[in-house]
Parts: sequence; C-alpha cells; structure tokens
Amino acid sequence: MTFAMGLVGCGGMGRRHVLGMKKLQAVGHLNFDLVAVCDIFPANGEKLADQAGELLGKRPQVFTDFEAMQRSMKLDGLIVTTTPETHTDVALKAFAAGMDVLAEKPITLTVAEGVNLVQAAEQAGRVLAVAENYRRDPINRLGKALVDSGAIGRPYLATQASSSSGEFVVITPWRHRKDRGGIVIDMGVHYTDILEFYLGPIESVFGMSAIVDAERKDAQGGLHPADAEDLSVGVMRFSSGALVNWLLNMAGRGEGLFSRVIYGTGGSLNIPGDRLGKPLGLVQRQAGKDVPIPVEELLKLVPDFALDATTAALFGSERLTRYDLAWADIDANLLGIEQADFVQAVIDHRQPEVTGAMGLRSLALVFGLLEAERLGRTVTLDEVLQRRDLPYELDIVKGLQA
Ligand SMILES: NC(=O)c1ccc[n+]([C@@H]2O[C@H](COP(=O)([O-])OP(=O)(O)OC[C@H]3O[C@@H](n4cnc5c(N)ncnc54)[C@H](O)[C@@H]3O)[C@@H](O)[C@H]2O)c1
Repeated sequence: MTFAMGLVGCGGMGRRHVLGMKKLQAVGHLNFDLVAVCDIFPANGEKLADQAGELLGKRPQVFTDFEAMQRSMKLDGLIVTTTPETHTDVALKAFAAGMDVLAEKPITLTVAEGVNLVQAAEQAGRVLAVAENYRRDPINRLGKALVDSGAIGRPYLATQASSSSGEFVVITPWRHRKDRGGIVIDMGVHYTDILEFYLGPIESVFGMSAIVDAERKDAQGGLHPADAEDLSVGVMRFSSGALVNWLLNMAGRGEGLFSRVIYGTGGSLNIPGDRLGKPLGLVQRQAGKDVPIPVEELLKLVPDFALDATTAALFGSERLTRYDLAWADIDANLLGIEQADFVQAVIDHRQPEVTGAMGLRSLALVFGLLEAERLGRTVTLDEVLQRRDLPYELDIVKGLQA
C-alpha cells in the first residue's frame, strides 16, 4: 500500500522538500507518494506541483485551503512547510483528520503552542516529527559516534558560536518579526537541537540578547522592519554537568565566524559547519601532549560506526569522513532522510528520530535564553516548558491577541 503524502506551504522550504523527494526516488528509498499540495497563494501551489510533476513523474493535486484538501482526499501524512505561526493550526487539523505530521522547525511559534501540539499528537495517537536536518549530516553522525566512543574522554564544554548575515534580510522578511518567529529562534533551534544531539539534555540556560538592526535590507535595497532579536549570547548547562558557550550573531558584519568545538578530558572535537562535507578535527591528549588525529584515522576509532541505509544510499557510502557535493544536493539529501524516517516511523509504529517533544525542547531552550534576560537569572528548561507566565513568551502571546 502506498503512503499518501500531502504538503502544506509551497514556499522556499516546500520546494526544497520536493528536491529531497527526488533524491530519495533516485536511490530507490522514496517510501511515499506526494499526492496533494496546498498554499494559500495559488501560484505557489501550482509552481510546486509543476516542479513535483517534472521531478517525480506525477503531478500532485493543488489546493488553496487545507480543509478542502483534507476533505477531498485521504492523506496518510502531511509535511508542514508553512511559516511558524501557522504550524499549530495546520497540524491540529491534520491530527483531527487522522494524519501523521512532519513539521518544519521551529515546531511552533511559541512554547505554549508546542506543548499543546505535542499533547494533541499523543492524544490522537499520531506521529509528530520535527524536520531537523542538521543532525542528519553524515559528518555529525560520525562526530557523535566519536564522542560516544570516548575519543575525547568526558565532554565538559561545547562552544556553539556563529556570526553572519549582516544587515540583510535572511531569506524572508518574516524571519525578523517576533510574531512570526524571529531570526534567533529560526536559527537557534538548529543549534540547540544539535547540542542535545551530541551531548544529551540541557537543563538550564542564561542569556542576553539585542536587536542590532531594526530594519533589514532585501536584495533590491528595500527596507523591512525587524522587531525580533538578532543577537543572542548565552551559557547553558547539560544534565551531565557539561557547559555550553553560546553565540548567535545574525547581524554579523566583518569577519564571519563558525565554531562548534566539544572539549573533553581526553581532547577536543572541532565540528565544521553543517551541510558542507568538511572533515572533523580531532585532537587527542596523549601522554600530556595534544596530538591531532589524521582524518583518515578517524574511522578506525569507531569500528562499528555505519550510516543508516538511506543516508548511505544518498551519500554513497556507509562510512565516510568527508564528502564533496553541491550545497543544494546536500540539503536535498538531508531533507530526504528526514522524510523517509518520518514515513518509516509511521509504518513501523515507532517514534521518528526527532519527535515533537524533542523539537519542543529545542524551541524552549532558545526561549529560555530570551526569558533569562527578562528575569535576570538562569532559567531551567523545565520551567520554560511548564510555566505559561514567562515574560518573553507572554509578550508574543499578548501581541497575537491584540
Ligand atoms: N530546516 C531548514 O533548513 C529550513 C530552512 C528554511 C525554512 N525552514 C522552515 O520551513 C518553514 C517555511 O519556511 P519558508 O522559508 O519556506 O517560508 P516561505 O515564506 O518561503 O514559505 C511559506 C509558504 O507557506 C504558505 N502558507 C502560509 N500559511 C499557510 C497556510 N495556512 N496554509 C497554506 N499555506 C500557507 C505561504 O503562502 C508560503 O508560500 C518555516 O518553519 C521555516 O523555519 C527550515
């Protein structure tokens, strides 16, 4: 029986997801049929359906209203690639119609909505997966295997620092608006997810933030108002006791920066930017000296490491230390991997790799960084998840109600 998939939100990410489907199809791992797409703007839906028809050999039906789509055909699953403030509404309707859902990150606009959505999925007995792509990069898979193998001893510190984007619109103007999910949240959830992927649960955070650019410039020179934070500086503590040094500068002029290094009692692992295919940098402490380990030696340290079958098929090997592909191909591969995992989770009655609860944690951690400054103290992840009276979130909720 084929798995009938729908996709809602035919903008940039919707189109990228279709490229992911094409990659899966090319290696014989496409485990669903894209039968329907929906966007409130008819032209966006038609454009994506044309692209899908061309790439996948079958044109999905186009709808401009999700409820009409769900009434007119039986769908097993739904990929939600709308803007963040609409994820909850669309996903709740999908659960009510008996669909399982793969929602793009951030899971929802607010933590409150995320809590509701995770509960709704549980109550409906449906799979809720979050499309978190960075961790699926084969380089991160190898990095995680190395950390787990004890290659750097006991991890006690991770840095996650980046600076980029200048005064420009990052992809779309809505990313700079607080009531649509600001840029610190939009990018930050990728990094909180990857930190927990590598080192387990984070339990507390403190942060400070700023709005550097109150306007953002688009490619034509047009100016767009920006009321969401674009700079976040912080610290976090894992349940293991390890610490995080955090910097997310989305207003970065001058020198660009990306640094993700995990320090352990036995060395350090320098992890390159995601979706680049660049090799990991492992330095081990041996007899009181720091010894760089050649990339060719890394796989020997993890003899049992192997990528899952879909990832191996897409990247061409079960075990690799680097790869050389165009960015668009890497991106499409990673989206394909998360789609295939979602569908297989539904078929096998298991959890997907990134559950709704995990996507909610990564969102709550970024909110925690923003709440901590308002509260003037460290906040725990539990309180962000449990309390509904924290000031940063309340401002957004009140703004939405006004
Ligand atoms: N994982 C990643 O690397 C990555 C990258 C980019 C975007 N995203 C995520 O994907 C989502 C979409 O981002 P995007 O860049 O494609 O945005 P976008 O603005 O390009 O596209 C969103 C589309 O959704 C449509 N839409 C909005 N509300 C709708 C509704 N209620 N019903 C049907 N269609 C609706 C819009 O008309 C638009 O076509 C966001 O959650 C974003 O954070 C993830």
